[in-house]
Amino acid sequence: IRAANRELRGVDRVTDVLSFPTVQYSPGSTAGSSTKLLQLEWNAEECACFLGDIMISVPQARRQALEYGHMEAREIAYLLAHGLFHLMGYDHEKDWERTAMRHKEEQSLQAVGMARITDEELLQRARDTMKHAYVPYSHYRVGASLLAADGRVFDGCNVENASYGLTNCAERTALFKAVSEGATQFTTLTIAAEGFPPWPCGACRQVLSEFCANLRVLVTHDGKVEQSTLQELLPHSFSPASGVQTVLKGTRND
Ligand code: THU
Repeated sequence: IRAANRELRGVDRVTDVLSFPTVQYSPGSTAGSSTKLLQLEWNAEECACFLGDIMISVPQARRQALEYGHMEAREIAYLLAHGLFHLMGYDHEKDWERTAMRHKEEQSLQAVGMARITDEELLQRARDTMKHAYVPYSHYRVGASLLAADGRVFDGCNVENASYGLTNCAERTALFKAVSEGATQFTTLTIAAEGFPPWPCGACRQVLSEFCANLRVLVTHDGKVEQSTLQELLPHSFSPASGVQTVLKGTRND
């Protein structure tokens, strides 16, 4: 891979993955919005569309897996996803491009059960976080763990207050921790409690919808697990995705 990197890109060092897209997407477009262009690449015999080449260094993937503390298969799956998104027109030069690409990579790895953290591990983190709950008034402990698109996990518990109304739910604690650490895209939220399924309250659904239109939400209590999505929990939401932000900005400027 070092030779390929040197000869094809002029960079004389080992790397983990190289991808060579053959489709010339128009600026700002990716495969999903380039149907016509991809039809030109369609190979009826293969019944497939040739998007380009990907080269992965297995020894380098092995080293990285060791460094990150996860399985070699997960690292190779990540590198393959990364290469595939390049072949589909994604890039990571600008900050927002990198965030969007990481989000796609994490989503696709989750879909094939190769996420850096499994659902069960994320559920366990939420259960573990319950023990930090500050609940002298309701005695109802809630723990939440939020998986960011960049692979980081943010945990939160409910923090009650003698004024009652100033209580912060576990989900918002996790979300506010994440946003204040620079994470604004998320893929999965797990919530743990005891006694009954801790589906997020209306306030938390609204606050979450500001950042994650398609968040998966898993709740667990007494060994049981149920699953939904934020879209299902808060349909027709008042959120940036529904264009509300543009309208509000316009109003302020007027
Ligand atoms: N609570 C949460 O932490 N998340 C929710 O979505 C609903 C309620 C907490 C707040 C309070 O400390 C306790 O549960 C009882 O309402």
